[in-house]
Amino acid sequence: MDKAVALARRMAAGEALTGGELLTLLEQRTAESAEILRAAAVETARKTFGNRVYLRGLIEFTNYCKNDCYYCGIRCSNQKAERYRLTPEVILACCDAGYDLGFRTFVLQGGEDSWWTDDKLCSLIAAIKENHPDCALTLSIGERSRDSYAALKQAGADRYLLRHETANACHYRRLHPPALKLENRIRCLYDLKDLGYQVGAGMMVGAPGQTLANLVEDLQFLQKLQPHMVGMGPFLRHRDTPFANEPDGSAELTLYLLSMVRLLLPKVLLPATTALGTVLEGGRERGILHGANVVMPNLSPADVRSKYLLYHDKLATGAESANGLAQLRRNLKAIGYEAVVARGDAPTL
Ligand code: 5AD
Repeated sequence: MDKAVALARRMAAGEALTGGELLTLLEQRTAESAEILRAAAVETARKTFGNRVYLRGLIEFTNYCKNDCYYCGIRCSNQKAERYRLTPEVILACCDAGYDLGFRTFVLQGGEDSWWTDDKLCSLIAAIKENHPDCALTLSIGERSRDSYAALKQAGADRYLLRHETANACHYRRLHPPALKLENRIRCLYDLKDLGYQVGAGMMVGAPGQTLANLVEDLQFLQKLQPHMVGMGPFLRHRDTPFANEPDGSAELTLYLLSMVRLLLPKVLLPATTALGTVLEGGRERGILHGANVVMPNLSPADVRSKYLLYHDKLATGAESANGLAQLRRNLKAIGYEAVVARGDAPTL
């Protein structure tokens, strides 16, 4: 029997693997080891979540960003990006529309935009929570000070997504300009956890310069951090970035890793990402069938959706209309899952 199959069986049985073993499981992966992990991951997700898939309404509220990450289409040096910033009124209207469609979690995602001071964000958060006290609010707005995170939490934010991007300091430097430090990113994640947020970390699969050993470090970092959520999708190039000519990340490896993450963190909230849906036809459904349990359709207004381009050909489907949402529900139903209307908090770890 090949090594990866034996290791996949052990992982599926709930055994902890060493870093070396995780690396072998990645390096020597086969269709058979993938299927063992996949089946066990789906079973594991079912134990906690049944056949329920949580929907989150994503609102991409600003694409201004002060950072210059080499992979990202909204990096500050990309002069071609058409910048936009939604007004608080428009954001509140997106939430109202999302609420009527059945969403009970809103994710406010944006670049690191200094226009959005703590005061402005706090007023916005308070207004959303006042209009929709039964909804959870997730922020995904990058690195801030501990005091800022505390103020946003106090105003009513419940969750925070901040992918660590890579747990390896050298690889981190390959992806980011010198001003950005892995250390600070990790500090942010621990501050957020400490302040009582439900926290999401994660990485891109196939980011330039990434080795399989780096991915093992990512998995081990996630195990140590014990986040409530893990966001993970393939790297996809954007033509107006320094990584324009780098190859896209693989859907196959992303699916394999989704199964591994599900087995390592059985109760984690694990989205089938837009990037996965972009590289692979039916990618989000495939993600669910590899252990994911969250989908984040886009609630941003149609006219700005095409401007929030982190990468090329980004899938812009989802809940842009009641029709889009009905289609998503049907797709999930077709694979035996039910899209649920619920806050979908992280189960106690
Ligand atoms: N391809 C895939 N994912 C990307 N992200 C940013 N740029 C890209 C890209 N080119 C991801 C990062 C970030 C999240 C919001 O989107 O991991 O944390």
